[in-house]
Amino acid sequence: MIGRLNHLAIAVPDLAAASAQYRGVLGAEVSEPLDQPEHGVTVVFVSLPNTKIELLHPLGEASPIAKFLERSPAGGIHHICYEVDDILAARARLQAEGARVLGDGEPKIGAHGKPVLFLHPKDFCGTLIELEQA
Ligand code: CO
Repeated sequence: MIGRLNHLAIAVPDLAAASAQYRGVLGAEVSEPLDQPEHGVTVVFVSLPNTKIELLHPLGEASPIAKFLERSPAGGIHHICYEVDDILAARARLQAEGARVLGDGEPKIGAHGKPVLFLHPKDFCGTLIELEQA
């Protein structure tokens, strides 16, 4: 059911430092920071030949990234995003298998303007999974 790896998201305590490291030390193509207030994050996109890395930094008071950085002050892998062809069909299959969809269970428009869902990390090897309709 799952398709391509769309992106891997890394929470970072210092977005400018992380951008400079990916651009300078790792030689990657790195975007300018983009505020996404509806998701409580500022994002920098790192473009790789086969996927993307998203560097996430908290934006605003209720950011979901703030708690993560409290627990992991140096930053760390926050979630992994797989593409699916049909997000409602994917949700139906996952719920039938007993997997928990986070929030109210309805797809939201994600960072790339496409519908996304998040799956409970306890159901997937301790990894927060985002599904994005391709
Ligand atoms: Co994501």
